[in-house]
Amino acid sequence: MRERLAGDFERFARAFPADFPEYVRERYRIDLRARYLGLSLPHPIGKGSGQLSLNLDQLETDRAAGLAFVVLKTVIAEDPSGQRTMGAWAIHETKMKVEPIRSPSGRSGWTVTWKGRGWDRSFDDYLALVRAAGELTRAGFPAIPSAKFHLPLLDEPFRSAEYRHTTVALARAWGEPALALEKDFSPTLAGDPLADERDRVLRWLAEVPREIRAAAEGTPVRLALKLMNARYDDGFQLAMLDAATGADALVCFNRLWSAERGVAYGGPELSERNLRVLTAAAGRLHPHLAGTGDICSGRRLLEYARAGCECVQLHTFFQLPLSEYPATEGSRTSRALHALVFHPERGLIAGLLELEEQGVLHRQGGELRFLDLVPSSAPAAPATP
Ligand SMILES: Cc1cc2nc3c(=O)[nH]c(=O)nc-3n(C[C@H](O)[C@H](O)[C@H](O)COP(=O)(O)O)c2cc1C
Repeated sequence: MRERLAGDFERFARAFPADFPEYVRERYRIDLRARYLGLSLPHPIGKGSGQLSLNLDQLETDRAAGLAFVVLKTVIAEDPSGQRTMGAWAIHETKMKVEPIRSPSGRSGWTVTWKGRGWDRSFDDYLALVRAAGELTRAGFPAIPSAKFHLPLLDEPFRSAEYRHTTVALARAWGEPALALEKDFSPTLAGDPLADERDRVLRWLAEVPREIRAAAEGTPVRLALKLMNARYDDGFQLAMLDAATGADALVCFNRLWSAERGVAYGGPELSERNLRVLTAAAGRLHPHLAGTGDICSGRRLLEYARAGCECVQLHTFFQLPLSEYPATEGSRTSRALHALVFHPERGLIAGLLELEEQGVLHRQGGELRFLDLVPSSAPAAPATP
């Protein structure tokens, strides 16, 4: 198996097969299938919302590369008159800087420094992208919208008009099957005075799912909350998980906030915190989990899976300098997948084979199954093909 893997790694560095999950199943007897928001995925690797999912070209490239799914850039909700309570998040900023970063524990990795926030074009432009995303989803490549809605102070009601107008428009543009949607609680929100009160944040997590479902006026919505890393301790992260029971899935957890620099950041400090909190949450009942944060190898992906995540969303690893990828041909997405899946030491296949050797994962009907690694603490929901 190891020799086979080394050979495939070398061969695929020049031409990566987008249908690799079938190949992996045949050649290694490994079933990589994963899940997100009730959708069955051929493997667990998707792209998180951000600057890499702003237009159809990016989506087409990702589909062609063999990515499992993509989440569109976060749009800022608006009411019928075009007013946006979270308008401060719709700012334009194009410059991104990919930089090495070291965690306080001494581990090195990568972060993207960027001062921008949400979608900065018109809502109509976003709906056009959502229309295309719905079509891609129906054709087997899930492309999921993401939005930021009004978040009230404790004594204020939710602005239902904003929720209704945005949710209905997204659901119409997306079409069948039921809208899959992420609600983003971003690091810039974590750093904003709006998130200064813990009870306020917990109320949002408890009530936002209800608001969005009510806003959809009877049409079902498959809803994920993308949780922030709040400026409080691990205990509060757990309290956030406990509060967010009304969602179908939780994306854990968005980037850290640097108050000194006024920017969000990632790298090993992010994965250390996320994995620590998710591990501490083991055994608690919560919605299905998707992991995000500093996933730059198949091994790190497997750590998220063992902490409960049924799929993962990457951003930074799709932005590295080309010299950081072992592949010599193909899009960044395809080069990233090559390293994540086939790297002979740090890849997904190598990691799964090692877990088999260690007796952690066992073959079922001759196959190793990725999802068998994920401890379930969510009520079982059938995945649709
Ligand atoms: C430049 C940039 C822009 C991002 N924009 C969004 C966004 O609009 N909405 C969102 O939910 N997450 C956003 N994210 C977060 C990513 O989707 C991802 O969850 C996070 O960066 C952690 O993954 P990573 O360590 O692989 O980058 C952004 C990240 C970066 C680096």
